[in-house]
This record gives sequence, C-alpha cells and structure tokens, in this order.
Amino acid sequence: MSIGIFDSGIGGLTVFKEVAREFPQADIYYLGDTARVPYGNKSKETIIRYSIEAAKYLTGFGIDALIIACNTASSYALDTLREILEIPVIGVIQPGIETALKKTKNGRVGVIGTQATIKSNSYKNILIQKGITVFQKACPLFVPLVEEGIIEGEIAELIIKNYLDEIVAKDIDTLILGCTHYPLLRNTINKLYPQIKIVDSSQAITEFLHNNNLKFNGGGTKKIFITDESESFSKLKTMLVGNIPVEKIELSEICRV
Ligand code: DGL
Repeated sequence: MSIGIFDSGIGGLTVFKEVAREFPQADIYYLGDTARVPYGNKSKETIIRYSIEAAKYLTGFGIDALIIACNTASSYALDTLREILEIPVIGVIQPGIETALKKTKNGRVGVIGTQATIKSNSYKNILIQKGITVFQKACPLFVPLVEEGIIEGEIAELIIKNYLDEIVAKDIDTLILGCTHYPLLRNTINKLYPQIKIVDSSQAITEFLHNNNLKFNGGGTKKIFITDESESFSKLKTMLVGNIPVEKIELSEICRV
C-alpha cells in the first residue's frame, strides 16, 4: 500500500517524518506546494482549488490513501477531496482533536494555527460539542519564523510569548499546534510553558493510523515533490528527513480540473 501526503510547503514534512518512522515499509509520495505557500492567508475557494490540484497529482502514483498534512487545507478541503477521490482521505483535524481529548484533564484547550484555520473554527466547533472550553489564536508569524529556521532563542521566544501568553493565562492544560509548521517550535513552546501538554499534527496522525489499523506495506519508496525551489525548503528538508531527493514539478499545468 502506498500513501500520498501533501502540504502547502515544508511543514507537512513533520508529518512525513513521523509516518515514515512509524511505517518504514510504506511507499510515501510527498508534495509540498512551495510555489504557492502560504495557504493560510488565502480564500476558501483558492485553498480548495490548490488542494484538489495537489491531491490529483499524488493520485497519479496510484496511492491507496491520502493524508492532508496541512491544517489549513484540512479545514477547508477535506469534504471536497472525500467527495471526488475514491481512496480514504485523512485530514489532521480529527486526529488532533482525538489526541487533545485524551490529554486534557481540566477541559480547557488552546488551539493555534494560521488565520484561515482559526477562522474556519474547524477544531473549535468539534471540541465545543465534546464539552471542551476552547481558546483560539492565529499566530501568523510562526510560519515565516520556521521557514527562516528561527525555532529557538530570544527572537523565537519573544514572538511565541507575544501570541501565547494570552491563551496560556486562560488556564489551558493542553495546546493543539494546529499547523504543520509549528512542531518545529515545540521545544521552545515547551520550554516557555512546561505545564502545558502539546498536541502536534504529526504525532496525532500516526496515532490515528495505528488506532485505525491502517497498515502501509510496500517497498519503502520515499519521494518528495515541490512546486518551487527555495533555500529554506532545502535546509529544513535536510534537517527533517535527510537526503531524500527532491524533484520540482509544475503542478497547476499538469493538473487542471
Ligand atoms: N501548512 C500550513 C498549515 O498547516 C501552514 C502554512 C500555510 O499557511 O500554508 O496550516
């Protein structure tokens, strides 16, 4: 069985890395839409269109399941992709919620993400139904911070505190990192707020795959495609997944829908 994973850019490699570690035999095809990142400040229509194009590209490899390793795309395009594709489509929202429900003791959960993810209330609406009190915050500077490799130190700490002090003060005991870039800031967030339990999409997804008995066996092929080259992608790619080769593709011309 093979699996496709897509993200707007580099952040989904945090998911790729965890899935590849948990399922080393899986054939995994990753697409990072680096030419059009960020999705997090785009309209719903654009996010859905980009997501369809990315998904169609990956289905060309005969994948058996698709992971949307992008919270923004999961918030807006999951239902559409489930309608048009004939394979299971897994977003990062539901797994994140399930993990948060297991972790919280006081029922007060923080959710952070891009502007679009927070605006969609994709986490909040479901968590509220489960009786959880939710505090949300969009953290638009976190993505460029990660892309620049500033994941620890004084600047990272100041920016993190600027966004998070406010919701941490609401006595949350669990924080959902609702963006696949944010796991790279996890150690610094943990250092600043050691009392808070952190949920990150990459771990939530692998837990979800195990809990649902999804087995991905294959020859262990790993391929990474991007739609534009950038220095920050190369640096973070090497840091996260080593020397897996990367191929540049022209997504929108190949996959008109
Ligand atoms: N990968 C996106 C997410 O998880 C963040 C980057 C973007 O805005 O496209 O929401």
